[in-house]
Amino acid sequence: MRVRLLLLLITASYSIQAQVTAFQYSSIKKSTGKNGAVVSAHPLASQAGLLMLKKGGNAFDAAIATQWALAVVYPGAGNIGGGGFMVATLKNQKPIALDYRETAPASASRDMYLDAAGNAVSEKSLYGHLSAGVPGTVAGLFASHQLAKLPMQVLIQPAIDLAEKGFVITEGEARALNSSRDAFEKYNTQIPVLVKTDGWKKGDTLVQTDLANTLKRIKHNGQKGFYEGATAQLIVDEMKRGNGLISLEDLKNYKAKFREAQLCNYRGYSIIGMPMPSSGGLLLTQMLKMTEPYPIGKMGFQTAASVQLMVEVERRAYADRAKYMGDADFYKVPVAELSDGAYLKNRMKDYQPGKAGSSKITVEGTVPGYESEETTHLSVIDNQGNAVSVTTTLNNNYGSKTVVAGAGFLLNDEMDDFSAKPGSPNLFGAVGGKANAIEPGKRMLSSMAPTIVLKNNKPFLVVGTPGGTTIPTSVFQTIVNIIDFKMSTDDAVNQPKFHHQWLPDEVFVEKKFSSQTWQQLQKMGYKITDRGQIGRTEVIQVLTNGRFEAVADHRGDDSAATW
Ligand code: GLY
Repeated sequence: MRVRLLLLLITASYSIQAQVTAFQYSSIKKSTGKNGAVVSAHPLASQAGLLMLKKGGNAFDAAIATQWALAVVYPGAGNIGGGGFMVATLKNQKPIALDYRETAPASASRDMYLDAAGNAVSEKSLYGHLSAGVPGTVAGLFASHQLAKLPMQVLIQPAIDLAEKGFVITEGEARALNSSRDAFEKYNTQIPVLVKTDGWKKGDTLVQTDLANTLKRIKHNGQKGFYEGATAQLIVDEMKRGNGLISLEDLKNYKAKFREAQLCNYRGYSIIGMPMPSSGGLLLTQMLKMTEPYPIGKMGFQTAASVQLMVEVERRAYADRAKYMGDADFYKVPVAELSDGAYLKNRMKDYQPGKAGSSKITVEGTVPGYESEETTHLSVIDNQGNAVSVTTTLNNNYGSKTVVAGAGFLLNDEMDDFSAKPGSPNLFGAVGGKANAIEPGKRMLSSMAPTIVLKNNKPFLVVGTPGGTTIPTSVFQTIVNIIDFKMSTDDAVNQPKFHHQWLPDEVFVEKKFSSQTWQQLQKMGYKITDRGQIGRTEVIQVLTNGRFEAVADHRGDDSAATW
């Protein structure tokens, strides 16, 4: 009798956890388990990933299901109309880096965002049809599926259900949707379901029938269900209504690409990062290697000394980003030279402890391009030796704000990550270099930095964050917090972050940044600016007892799921 009762209880609790509970859920900020872990920007997406682990899938299955679900429950950045990057490690195999970044359409051209006077018009590269690059996410999910175990039809089903039957939205989502309402009305020819006439509030149900139908076409026809046939035609029809450039050929020709991961060693740990066309992995390599010769652990967490060192390191890496980085398929990026130990040591030769450096003398030339912060990251691990780190984006919050009518998904505005006019400031006071100029088929430079840290050749940390140009600095700080400052995962994620990106020559800090350190840095000559929240970091740490500790950032609805 007692055994039967126990079995009943176990079955009941399993079936509760084994469902994606669309109408009642909450964020779990920290969770540990021995079989697997998923952490993402939304509780329902993390649940979808966990469900696949429980069904016998691996970390790739979970990462794919989480991404499909994010495209429904987190429309601001989760997507099928955008792109992303995946870094993964498999037991006893070479690390994997998968690039599913958007591409410039074939008819794109270098000066397409310039007006008659030759000035960059950023409204065109940031909003509406013309700002969209050819989406890469669906191709990326299918490319990564060769490493998964479960059929795609199973992985996509939670997303279909969430779109078709709806789910309740959080307060944050309601606020974000309401604040984009004017833009949705302005940049769409048919008003999307993301607009609610009397405004969204927490607990309202969002049903996305057109999106569900698009996901079903993908379920039944595979990748072609997006890049060809009815969905492709709906995208092209939408382009025609708004003077966009994406053609049927662009869609058919899109390919996700496996690339060599960007590798570096830091204090005995192996860091696996994303290579070009994301600057994320190379920036991380540069920042960690410039930090390594200094006893930063002894300086202490966010003392003026350690922050100054990290700021100077960040300044130098971002100066290099501006000058040298872009899509390496189109522009020769000197990756080996930029990661070289002697080069990086030399880069720090004018660093003076206690005295602010200057971006005027660090390097002459170009500066970084503007990037929006609305990206999203998920980290996954399983008990079969796989770890997966994925960052995806639509660029701005809700991308271009244009929904493909009849297909129900938002298009990205990733074209703004190119340098619209090399060498000249855009609306945001930033410019970019030749390396990142627009060319047909080229991928715009990114800062996304999905990362895995190995200890003794086994996964130790799976880490990443959204945040535009703040992504690499946030990942850098999270790693240093754990390795050098010996912080708990929780603190490493949730303690305040800071950011310097060469230009503008300012240190940006979060609200809770130590006022004492702030004052000391000001005395050294730094300009400090409070800039609200930086990133939403998701970390899984493998503890010494082998259990997985998943921590979701407190800065949003982010949520961890383990078992
Ligand atoms: N759109 C942000 C990034 O790719 O870095």
